[in-house]
Amino acid sequence: MAERARVAILISGRGSNMIALAEAAERPDCPYEVVLVAANDPDASGLARARMMGIETWGLSHKGLKRAEFDALIDAELRRARVDYIALAGYMRLLSSEFVAGWAGRMVNIHPSLLPLYKGLDTHTRAIAAGDMEAGCSVHVVTADLDDGPVIAQARVPIKPGDTPDSLAARILVEEHRLYPQALAEFVTR
Ligand code: GRF
Repeated sequence: MAERARVAILISGRGSNMIALAEAAERPDCPYEVVLVAANDPDASGLARARMMGIETWGLSHKGLKRAEFDALIDAELRRARVDYIALAGYMRLLSSEFVAGWAGRMVNIHPSLLPLYKGLDTHTRAIAAGDMEAGCSVHVVTADLDDGPVIAQARVPIKPGDTPDSLAARILVEEHRLYPQALAEFVTR
């Protein structure tokens, strides 16, 4: 088999999407491997989970650093790890334009809405408040504007009567875990 694409995953929290991506990479026919999980919070619980899976991790608080300075530190780490692609998975920090430009066409994100609807935060609350009949998640290429790059994959779920933001988020998360590994595998082999 040809060499697998080297992927880094950026997280800020629990990292359930990171785990789904890393578990998919354990299959020998997966076209990518996860070589690094990095976080802007050294205590992010996802980092410990990644280490338990035998993945190298890097965690540093962004506090007290300018955005471009912090991003340059991550960038150096990614280059050191010879990363080909970046998957953002609940990375709750805007990236500097320099960083985004340096990884143009090689960075994807998962967002819990049917983009272009509901960019930014509180997507589930906003979908319910709007009276939408369905919601979902999108994997998109990362560009300079937040949640704005080309969508490469989407999954839909119904919004049911009585749904709360939490119940809807849980229904969508199941789809995120299915969609993201598949979309990333397609992205690195396109
Ligand atoms: C997910 O809903 C993802 O779509 C959004 O942030 C959440 C991260 O969850 N960008 P997790 O850390 O992957 O569990």
